[in-house]
Amino acid sequence: MNKAIVLYQSKYGATRKYAEWIAEALGCSAVETKKADVEQVREYDLIILGGGVYASGIAGLSFLRKNYAQLKEKRIIVFAVGARPFDESVVSALKEHNFKGPLTDLPLFYCRGAWDEEAMTWGDRVLCRMLKKIVAKQDPASHGPLERVIMEAGTKHDWTDREQIQPILDFVRGNQP
Ligand SMILES: Cc1cc2nc3c(=O)[nH]c(=O)nc-3n(C[C@H](O)[C@H](O)[C@H](O)COP(=O)(O)O)c2cc1C
Repeated sequence: MNKAIVLYQSKYGATRKYAEWIAEALGCSAVETKKADVEQVREYDLIILGGGVYASGIAGLSFLRKNYAQLKEKRIIVFAVGARPFDESVVSALKEHNFKGPLTDLPLFYCRGAWDEEAMTWGDRVLCRMLKKIVAKQDPASHGPLERVIMEAGTKHDWTDREQIQPILDFVRGNQP
């Protein structure tokens, strides 16, 4: 396989874990987007970029948006890590929300991350607890996947699982369309 690199942006560690699992499986490096230099990234043929999902936005995509002109000849794959359970509709909603312009046709994969209110920054914790109070007052029948997670997960849950990188590896290795 050609030279690959995994870039990632992770606030609480789940995306980093997936990035490191993928890098280990492919025998390449995992580097934080904040530390990545586009000139060095240009040396790779395959760029796999992973980002945690916060308020529907995929972290780290700004690296691609900013540098796309220099990377457009590369094979680029994106994976998002969120708390929602996997569902095709979750992936299409993330695509619609995050993939604009030249990023539109990039392949997007999804891995389920973690939810730990105690580990969150003060601001994130306040935000999530406010959200939880609002969700608690709603009719459960109206809840979408994230609302259900917020109400069911308690304050701490870890859904990370190495098996979730398999579709990414299959795609990279050409075992899947
Ligand atoms: C402020 C905040 C907003 C979040 N918003 C979403 C969201 O919109 N959709 C989702 O699926 N998960 C959401 N999550 C859950 C994170 O995606 C999940 O914790 C994931 O593991 C984060 O990746 P990281 O561990 O690499 O930081 C949110 C978490 C926080 C703290």
